[in-house]
Amino acid sequence: MTKSLKRIGILTGGGDCPGLNAVIRAVAKPAIANGIEVMGIEDGYLGLIEERLRRLRNNDVSGILTTGGTILGSCNKANPSAYSVQENGKWVVHDVRDRVIKSIADFELDTVFVIGGDGTMSGAADLIDRGVNVIGVPKTIDNDLWATDITFGHDTAVTTATEALDKVHTTASSHHRVMVVEVMGRYAGWLALRSGLASGADVILIPEIPFSIEKICDHCITRSKHGKRFTIIAAGEGATLSGGKQFVDHIDESSPDPIRLGGVAKFVADQVSQNTGLESRSMVLGHIQRGGTPTPYDRILATQFGYYAFELLKEGVMNHLVVMKDNKLGSVPIKDVANKVRTVPPDNASMLAARCVGTSFGD
Ligand code: F6P
Repeated sequence: MTKSLKRIGILTGGGDCPGLNAVIRAVAKPAIANGIEVMGIEDGYLGLIEERLRRLRNNDVSGILTTGGTILGSCNKANPSAYSVQENGKWVVHDVRDRVIKSIADFELDTVFVIGGDGTMSGAADLIDRGVNVIGVPKTIDNDLWATDITFGHDTAVTTATEALDKVHTTASSHHRVMVVEVMGRYAGWLALRSGLASGADVILIPEIPFSIEKICDHCITRSKHGKRFTIIAAGEGATLSGGKQFVDHIDESSPDPIRLGGVAKFVADQVSQNTGLESRSMVLGHIQRGGTPTPYDRILATQFGYYAFELLKEGVMNHLVVMKDNKLGSVPIKDVANKVRTVPPDNASMLAARCVGTSFGD
């Protein structure tokens, strides 16, 4: 280990997800044991913009393995090179990297551990350009981060969405209804695909495969004809109609990534009911998918990621993101990952398996 290492910072950026605390613990514990001071940065990059950091001691990072959320707080709006502030009723974007770099210098942080998704890694890439030492850890329920096969938090979200899809089965079958459940995932279909496959959903809609209402209706009618008087549809929030229409719930102008998706489930349920006469209902699972205690898989993965991130620090490998590829821990330059989205490829095994058991993708 580099002898001169004195102090590191840790931040959790973007949307929260289960397993963040497990990573904080896995980075901070060995650091403290090696005599390195650990500063917890509050609310993601916002803590560096506003100089809100606090010392983390062993007691602060003990007993947090199983807790959801993040003891540091998070923020999915504070990108140092594109930070929105309201001026005279309008949102104006500023580059506040100077302030961030000043905080890092004032607090004498040798390296900043950034635990986050693509937005956080893009922010990190912009800081690397300005000479900051960063080590990244991949988080997101969406599992859409480039260069890693898996992000922590995804498994817990798949578990939550699967439980919800399992539960709507009873009402669907008792009332002979079409039930459309909207799950998160942004522009990648991993969450809808995996929860749909795990729960045996009859139709899975994902952004990678544009859907047609006609095909979905045909599937529901065919099922009815074969005596299955209900249909469960798992709809990823980013699913698009063939022709390209995407469903936007609202625009959050304070965010560097302002589009908030939503509405596909209601649209599909309304269309199915109008076109087939089958009674339909829609529901949006929303943020419960980001909450709760991490699954054992996510606790293990997050701890492995944290361990490996600290190994990178020991080896002096800077500006890399920890990844899991073919079940092996490794790392890639953060710059290679920034501003990219990992979507479901056409030859994905879950997708092929779902098709093989008769699941429709609405195409
Ligand atoms: O990226 C995680 C995620 O939960 C997405 O699945 C979802 O589209 C988005 O964040 C929601 O963001 P917010 O918490 O700002 O509503």
